[in-house]
Amino acid sequence: MLSKFERYPLTFGPTPIEKLARLSAHLGGDVEIYAKREDCNSGLAFGGNKLRKLEYIVPDIIASNADTLVSIGGVQSNHTRMVAAVAAKLGMKCRLIQESWVPHEDAVYDRVGNILLSRLMGAEIQLVDEGFDIGIRESWTAALEDVRAKGGKPYAIPAGASVHKFGGLGYVGFAEEVRAQEQALGYRFDYIIVCTVTGSTHAGMVVGFAKDGRQRNVIGIDASATPAQTKAQVLDIAQQTAALIGGADIGADDIVLNEDYAYPVYGVPSQETLAAIRLSARLGAMITDPVYEGKSMQGLIDLVRKGFFPKRSRVLYAHLGGAPALNGYSYTFRNG
Ligand SMILES: Cc1ncc(COP(=O)(O)O)c(C=O)c1O
Repeated sequence: MLSKFERYPLTFGPTPIEKLARLSAHLGGDVEIYAKREDCNSGLAFGGNKLRKLEYIVPDIIASNADTLVSIGGVQSNHTRMVAAVAAKLGMKCRLIQESWVPHEDAVYDRVGNILLSRLMGAEIQLVDEGFDIGIRESWTAALEDVRAKGGKPYAIPAGASVHKFGGLGYVGFAEEVRAQEQALGYRFDYIIVCTVTGSTHAGMVVGFAKDGRQRNVIGIDASATPAQTKAQVLDIAQQTAALIGGADIGADDIVLNEDYAYPVYGVPSQETLAAIRLSARLGAMITDPVYEGKSMQGLIDLVRKGFFPKRSRVLYAHLGGAPALNGYSYTFRNG
């Protein structure tokens, strides 16, 4: 599906799939839970889902002759860390807008984890006191203008690399990779669980799995707490990506987004999210974070407990990364 698109390798190659045997047993053993380890996909600054997307964006960056990557996210954005990593890899400058998307107070929140790594890789960081919004932001367009005014040539990468013309391609590739791995394993996954915020991870999977009719078995777990906007963005990206690659038509019913686990707001973990993070860590050392994967892990655990998945289902949890943000929640986890 992707052969006509250029890809610049940033990842090690296909990511491993592992069975979460202790978690499956702990939840009753009726459902087999597996994880696809996108969090272990690269040697670039701890990797994660954004690199799969950026692999299809880098050829356009190179062709543009830009000298500065300009992107945006929250203070503990994984995405901006990955943009800083790509800039360092390509030998470009990097300008990052980090907005106050999360009403979370921790003494070192803006000094550790993702933002520390981005600074270490040489990115120029501007902290902006604006709240959460996955749309196009004035602070970001102003930064693009500022780079131009100073004689630079910016390349614009939106939040999560999502509403970029090639933003959905990487996770179409994920679906193709899973199909190849299923052939080797000799079985298929019945459901895929994915954390959804800016939307192109979920959207790419929907387009990729539509090839074998499994698009509605991709269960997005919303972590934005603005699900109407997120769902509309997933649909839009999926339709544009399908048109771009000549894939099957995608309709609103193909986007399955569970809204039940994003509370109280983006970036703030509930007690149930914290319990899921601890359970995953203690039943197999799989580390998830309070912003994204902790919420999708909570969703997975709760859906298994509720009997949402038929007996003997194989469920694939897409682990998209994000562990560096844990450092911004040190007080929350002071006792483990
Ligand atoms: C670790 C992690 N998981 C999940 C997501 C959600 O992916 P998307 O923004 O493509 O919906 C992100 C980024 O927003 C992320 O950094």
